[in-house]
Amino acid sequence: MISAPILDTRFRLTETVALDLAKSYGTPLYVVDETHFRQRIQTYLTAFRTAYPRSEISYASKANSTLALVKMAYQEGCTIDVASEGEFRVALAAGVPGNKCHLHGNNKQIEELQFALANDIGHIVADSFEEIEMLNDIVTPEQRKSTKIVLRLAPGVDPVTHAKISTGQADTKFGFNIADGSAEKAAARCLELALNLYGFHCHVGSQLLDPEAQRSGGELIAKFAVDIKEKHGYTVQYLNVGGGLGVAYTSGDQPMGMAEYCRLIVQAVVSALEGSGIDPILGQEPGRSLTAESGVTLYRVGVMKTVPSKALGQRTYVGVDGGLSDNPRPALYGSKYTVERVVPATSADSETKNMTVSGKHCETDKLFDETPLPADLKVGDLIQVLCTGAYNSSMASNYNRYPRPATALIRKDGTHTLIQRRDSWEEMLAREIVPTDLG
Ligand SMILES: Cc1ncc(COP(=O)(O)O)c(C=O)c1O
Repeated sequence: MISAPILDTRFRLTETVALDLAKSYGTPLYVVDETHFRQRIQTYLTAFRTAYPRSEISYASKANSTLALVKMAYQEGCTIDVASEGEFRVALAAGVPGNKCHLHGNNKQIEELQFALANDIGHIVADSFEEIEMLNDIVTPEQRKSTKIVLRLAPGVDPVTHAKISTGQADTKFGFNIADGSAEKAAARCLELALNLYGFHCHVGSQLLDPEAQRSGGELIAKFAVDIKEKHGYTVQYLNVGGGLGVAYTSGDQPMGMAEYCRLIVQAVVSALEGSGIDPILGQEPGRSLTAESGVTLYRVGVMKTVPSKALGQRTYVGVDGGLSDNPRPALYGSKYTVERVVPATSADSETKNMTVSGKHCETDKLFDETPLPADLKVGDLIQVLCTGAYNSSMASNYNRYPRPATALIRKDGTHTLIQRRDSWEEMLAREIVPTDLG
């Protein structure tokens, strides 16, 4: 039996619903629970508002940009953080007004900025001197006054997380370094150009179970705001401390609760601002902590194979009908997940055995290395992988020309509906152009 975290807040399917979903939509299948997702947002909003009333939560749509989820996040009271023109187009298609979105990106193209300006973007998070100059060149006199610019800062903190999702350290492609003076130069340049400098931002990393880096990132950007006020007479209106709160992928992950986390961040910012006369709107842009635990992926076991293994003596491979194209995180970051067989709620817990769940792709495609599963697991069983609501669907690809899975939504009344259908074979071929002389 898989041991659960102390408070297991993750959504999981019952056997009846899982069987029905697999029959209705096939596998692999992403499933998101509407009630769970809405509650996560409400819990975060309440936690943040309680700690700091002038607060704003932007849903980082990169975590899961399925249109229906973006719409729900907006309905629940979030603004939307978009990291590309594509994500901005999704938010607009979901009915979110442009001015309720903000645009990130470390190398924005002029067309992306023009699209954002034309669609009344709420604010642009500028990431480089080139971008500041580009904005200066393209804004109309009216937009120079109205378009809010937020500077992304690199506070120089090293979070405890996977190197590929660590972004707050000094050696990063993101933002303006505070310590080397770049951040001050960027602020001074915006003021000199009479751009509408609105505030400062940092995002130090993702899946952070230890919140120290975010606390110290918040403190450092607040201190920077005080410094800029003293030196340049500019009073910041907005500070954003990014996303990053971790979730429970396995029972070993013990993320800090949202209320405690918000209190910690707010305290760091407020004490750094004390006596400065700066009273900003405080923003956060969580993605993973809002969607991950609300989603599961259903796979069907198609092959089981026990082979000799140098490391283990014997290894049992459980071949499922998905793989790194629907969840690239194990291959990218060595991420671990909780895998459960879908069993009747009344069934006795069977003995478990470590097995390696592998995908269909042409590399080893080990999804979940040596994870405990029922010893009597068999071909045809359904398994559910918990906590896949973030960075799965939005990171999926067509590698090996597999169609990306559909996403089903469990509605508040317990019924289900598709919110994203599986790729069709027609659309997989739709982009292909064969030169006519190839015959
Ligand atoms: C700038 C920015 N903001 C917010 C997020 C969301 O982070 P998370 O999903 O860890 O909350 C990310 C994720 O990488 C990010 O890069």
